[in-house]
Amino acid sequence: MENIKIPSHVGIIMDGNGRWAEKRGKNRSYGHKQGSANVDAIVTHAFESGVKSLTLYAFSCENWARPKEEVDELMKLLKIYFKKFIKKVVNNDVRLRVIGGREELKPDLIKVIEDGENATKDNKKNNLNIAINYGGRQEVVRAVNKLIEQNQPITDQNISKNLDTAHCGDPDLIIRTGGEYRVSNFLLYQGAYSELYFTDVLWPDFNEVEFDKAIQSFGQRKRRFGKV
Ligand code: FPP
Repeated sequence: MENIKIPSHVGIIMDGNGRWAEKRGKNRSYGHKQGSANVDAIVTHAFESGVKSLTLYAFSCENWARPKEEVDELMKLLKIYFKKFIKKVVNNDVRLRVIGGREELKPDLIKVIEDGENATKDNKKNNLNIAINYGGRQEVVRAVNKLIEQNQPITDQNISKNLDTAHCGDPDLIIRTGGEYRVSNFLLYQGAYSELYFTDVLWPDFNEVEFDKAIQSFGQRKRRFGKV
């Protein structure tokens, strides 16, 4: 894609795994497995296209309310794929971070996350943020509480500095797959002026061509940030 404006920070709501599986007469966990397998290709392609930072919505604070087997399976997949990612990104100058509330996660998952974050802490070229037990409202509450603890004034700048994605700046583009038109508590504060791209394609089918369509669409937007 030549001469196309590339967003620096892209957020992705990877929706539609369940429906993808149900359409094939399989259980929802099968969809999550396919969805997980798709992450690698999109991450690689996004970074090769010139995107600097990616934030992927893997598990929301609200997802705990799903049936226990589905939650367990998602947690298992996250552990497996996080381990795989560490091996892959550690030598590709990608810094891996998990954003969201960590206390509620199981110790074995926390250990894998910490290993990945430590192993990539000196990497600089790209940022890969995986949102697990993440909610935008909860993130703002955490940021404000931090400021109160530190006796700092509650200002827009101070809140922004204390958000989980402060290291990559606000997302330029948020993509949602799976045909729903909402942001579902994802990057609420930092997404105030993000361009939004919605596609009906279900996450396991969202490939490099579909990603490029989102980038093309972003390239045609006129961003005014509230100005004229
Ligand atoms: C939404 O599909 C998807 C999720 C709740 C989980 C997203 C997780 C992954 C793609 C896998 C793990 C991620 C990484 C980073 C390895 P849904 O279940 O809501 O689908 P539906 O809307 O069709 O029911």
